Amino acid sequence: MFIRPAKRIREALSVPGDKSISHRSIMFSSIATGESKIYNFLMGEDCLSTIDCFQKLGVNIDITEQCITIQGVGLRGLKKPSERLYAGNSGTTIRLISGILSGQNFDCEITGDASIQRRPMGRIVEPLREMGANICGIEKENHAPLMISGGKLRGIHYNIPVASAQVKSAIQLAGLYAEGITSIQEPQKSRNHTEIMLKNMGADIEIQGLKVICKPVEKLFAREIHVPGDISSAAFFMVLGAIAKDGEILIKDVGLNPTRTGVIDILRKMGADIKIIYERSLSGELVGDILIKTSSLRGVEIGGEIVPRLIDEIPVLAVAACFAEGTTVIRDAQELKVKESNRIKAMVTELKKIGGDIDETADGMIIQGRKKLHGGQIESYHDHRIAMALAIAGLRSEEGVIIDNPSCVDISFPHFFDILHKMTDHE
Ligand code: S3P
Repeated sequence: MFIRPAKRIREALSVPGDKSISHRSIMFSSIATGESKIYNFLMGEDCLSTIDCFQKLGVNIDITEQCITIQGVGLRGLKKPSERLYAGNSGTTIRLISGILSGQNFDCEITGDASIQRRPMGRIVEPLREMGANICGIEKENHAPLMISGGKLRGIHYNIPVASAQVKSAIQLAGLYAEGITSIQEPQKSRNHTEIMLKNMGADIEIQGLKVICKPVEKLFAREIHVPGDISSAAFFMVLGAIAKDGEILIKDVGLNPTRTGVIDILRKMGADIKIIYERSLSGELVGDILIKTSSLRGVEIGGEIVPRLIDEIPVLAVAACFAEGTTVIRDAQELKVKESNRIKAMVTELKKIGGDIDETADGMIIQGRKKLHGGQIESYHDHRIAMALAIAGLRSEEGVIIDNPSCVDISFPHFFDILHKMTDHE
């Protein structure tokens, strides 16, 4: 795929539904009682993997262009699947579903693609075992395939060593089935979509600062769920709007949950001209429109408690940093090494190839803003966010970029390149 440099960008657009919320809407509606309808669901490959798993667990899920309809089977109504479950490329699918499967009275196996099999699973295996689940992985229990035979669970208190919404959610979901109270403490606050949606469905969840306290309930209630646009997808266009030579982009109906808006805080700190218009609430989540214009950016330091609030946006923030005045230092971001690819190595290697002045550190990267990239041929590492971040770099480069395996964007943003091509007025 060739991405040509673009000069003038004027566009109003919507991004697809939030990936984290879409996954949760399928999972929680499946174990709720009654019929749920989900609107603006993300039809990306990761979320389709979640649908496939719950269909194999006996849930009736009907997909139309307008919405997804789910006949919830109740907390204890899932059926033993006749084959191994497959999470594809999706960490959220395999980690969250493991919490639910730990509370069922059957055994099953789940795995995923090569990337999933490399990613650490010990972080969920350990607490779920402590709760009484029989869950085993391979290579010191740290890797998929996971064998889970559910059973009687007990509530525990667990201190999560790294801020991770996937781990926090897996434990909360197991907590729905456990005897007694389950409490989870995080070092920093990670995204809280599980807490919001489960509470809306009638779960007994209490938040005390960085602690989540969860008590078992008889049932969850089916709901109508409206999924906001994904801020992680919007981030590509925010950065494009800011670094474009002549840009103004309006992104409509974007989720603005404060546990996800670190990218807006950092772009503003860099000097970006961003306005939030028409803020409102949708299915318990904050939503708004984002207007961003060409800005003169400066380098910043990114580290500490903000990192979990922008972890998925760091690749595209690294692109913004290439077009800033001065140095950007990104630290405390070692979690990027265990995402769909090693995102620190991927961004440093590929941005260097196309003219970026960027160095890898133990927990992040240092970027000297040179305000230009020459372009060239780059690799996506089969990682959707790397492919999209580098495409944005390509639009602002001198000669454009050629990206291998562009279809990996289908994981989270199926029509990304169509939108990109439509919105750019080429030189
Ligand atoms: C997600 C949580 C984050 C994020 C991922 C989606 C979720 O991962 O990077 O893209 O939906 O809970 P961690 O929980 O590993 O931080």
